[in-house]
Amino acid sequence: MGSIAVCPGSFDPITFGHLDIISRGAKVFDQIYVVVLNNSSKNPLFSVEERMELIREVTKDIPNVIVDSFQGLLIDYAKNVKANAIIRGLRAVSDFEYEMQITSMNRVLDEDIETFFIMTNNQYSFLSSSIVKEVSKYGGNISELVPAFVEKALKEKYQS
Ligand code: PNS
Repeated sequence: MGSIAVCPGSFDPITFGHLDIISRGAKVFDQIYVVVLNNSSKNPLFSVEERMELIREVTKDIPNVIVDSFQGLLIDYAKNVKANAIIRGLRAVSDFEYEMQITSMNRVLDEDIETFFIMTNNQYSFLSSSIVKEVSKYGGNISELVPAFVEKALKEKYQS
């Protein structure tokens, strides 16, 4: 059996920072499930379907990526697809505490599924979906932050 990893997130929307982590992870693992976690406590701009469509479009040249969504525990999703790894990106020290918390929790839930961190490329260390949304909302230039397809989708959201 090949190595299967899950790369989970809200992806509201996917940014160049996420894409950096996914494409680098795809070089290490045989298959990566990029999964939109339908986390009801957040108030997303894009629907789960829209987020999946954006991810599909911008990862279409990475053959070992599968895009999916899930509502529930990440560990249950990982078990369903027989993944032995979770991939997360780390931007800065400020990410560490939160990531340590979810990683530790996931390890309590299933100690056989290992979490791997990929340090985000320096040029994206400040980048988040929230920042992109804010800049886009007020008409700022986000062409360096998200793929053109995502930029267009954001413009449509804020113009409608
Ligand atoms: O992109 P995000 O918002 O930082 O992703 C957070 C995410 C979706 C990975 C995290 O909230 C998650 O795993 N949610 C699923 C619920 C779950 O499994 N919780 C237990 C571990 S804390």
